[in-house]
Amino acid sequence: MAAGSTNGSREPSKITVLISGTGTNLQALIDSRDTDALPNANIVRVISDRQKAYGLERAKKSDIPTTYHGILPYKKKYPDDSCDPQHEAARKAYDADLADLVLADTPSIVVCAGFMRILTTSFLEPVKAANIPIINLHPSLHGDLIGANCIQRAWDEFQAGKRTKTGVMVHYVIAEVDMGEAVVQQEVDMEGCGNLEELNERIHACEHGLIVEGTRRVLEEVSKAKG
Ligand code: GRF
Repeated sequence: MAAGSTNGSREPSKITVLISGTGTNLQALIDSRDTDALPNANIVRVISDRQKAYGLERAKKSDIPTTYHGILPYKKKYPDDSCDPQHEAARKAYDADLADLVLADTPSIVVCAGFMRILTTSFLEPVKAANIPIINLHPSLHGDLIGANCIQRAWDEFQAGKRTKTGVMVHYVIAEVDMGEAVVQQEVDMEGCGNLEELNERIHACEHGLIVEGTRRVLEEVSKAKG
């Protein structure tokens, strides 16, 4: 059966993927469509906040619609000043338009696969109101390392003799960064890791399985809820 086509009586689930980078996790989702790992699912759009993200090329090669949604026009429209040093106004306007963009495709799920922006309530609330779950891939176990550069931070702690394990999780996205309930998580053993590159490889190998598994589990929940 062709990738992305239906394999059952139900309409295929619709997945929107948000990315910022090379898109190896997006590729894992693309390759899993209509296998047992991710049955009866189509990726309806890939959205990137970076124009040159290689993940956009991966999507185009698989005939998946793409959109570049960059922050720059918003920062120009709402420049930061002493009252708004974090570009709050720009981020909110950006996220509100991102929500409109996503909702236009009426997806069953939004998957953040290496999307490097923190989503504000301007995105989370309208998507939640439409009953669309949002999940994120994070290279740490729940409640362990939070925020950016987790692989580097785990490596530094391993080298300092402070840890021998790290992990990967797929979790629901809430306003509190990396704190939404885990859908699925897996430990990654660091023993024998010779350098950061090796740890990166172990983490990425784990991520490529887990992002597919997490997406499948949540889509199953969505499907059960629809009855
Ligand atoms: C992954 O390691 C993810 O956990 C992190 O960004 C990376 C994205 O990789 N937040 P890719 O773009 O899917 O190759």
